[in-house]
Amino acid sequence: MATPAAVSGRRPAARAATRVGAFWQSTIGKKIVMAVTGVIMVAWVVLHMLGNLQIFAGPARLNGYSAFLHHSIGELLWLMRAILFVSVVLHIIAAAQLTRIDHDARPVKYARKTPQAATVASRSMRWGGVALFLFIVFHILHITTGTIRPAPFVEGDVYGNLVGNFRIWWVTLIYVAAMIALGLHMYHGVWSSVRTLGLNRPSPNPLKRRVATGLAILLWGGFSLVPIAILLGWVR
Ligand code: HEM
Repeated sequence: MATPAAVSGRRPAARAATRVGAFWQSTIGKKIVMAVTGVIMVAWVVLHMLGNLQIFAGPARLNGYSAFLHHSIGELLWLMRAILFVSVVLHIIAAAQLTRIDHDARPVKYARKTPQAATVASRSMRWGGVALFLFIVFHILHITTGTIRPAPFVEGDVYGNLVGNFRIWWVTLIYVAAMIALGLHMYHGVWSSVRTLGLNRPSPNPLKRRVATGLAILLWGGFSLVPIAILLGWVR
């Protein structure tokens, strides 16, 4: 039989679990989970972009940075990977469930000749999100594990692997196209997460629009620069 101390110790935990469950079951709860996990992923993506730009400082710098991540702060890297993985999974599950709730609430579509801007944005978010997910799977198999090898892959030589691959025009094309999907997803995502988290104030030119546009252009440009510079022979 459980002791009184054990029962009283269990109660707050059970109450917290019920609260977390109720939060997750609610539509706003799922939207908040999407917004918070989205912010975590944006922060990671910005750091990743800054890391990649070190290619312009030469092979020693980029390969040294990669070695530092893998060997010097190994545990922190695995913690970041775990946080990122949980964020991606929660973001996708919440997105899929919100899509289903949306469809169930409106089984017959409105008869509209011209689709609403909001509908176009949310549809592009869904398909853009699927495209990005497929890109990330391809990207890890391509650049991290070297399973997909359009060019020779040398473990630890990140610089050489990038230069070898982005000299191939269609590899660069896949990446630049994926970065357009990334930019659009960030643009709409930042916009709607600011609204979900209640940070927006009514204005004809809201800050959230400027932040969303700036971030989308920064990420698209910052990431695309690397494959384009290699294809054009600026980095060799
Ligand atoms: C032109 C664009 C990109 C380039 C050149 C690039 C380059 C790289 C490189 C070189 C690595 C391996 C680093 C290492 O082994 O030290 C890597 C890993 C990775 N990249 Fe990218 N990346 C790009 C875009 C993206 C985007 C847009 C995302 C996500 C939205 C992404 C997600 C990842 C992930 C999840 C990993 C694995 C990280 C890990 O092993 O911990 N990358 N990328």
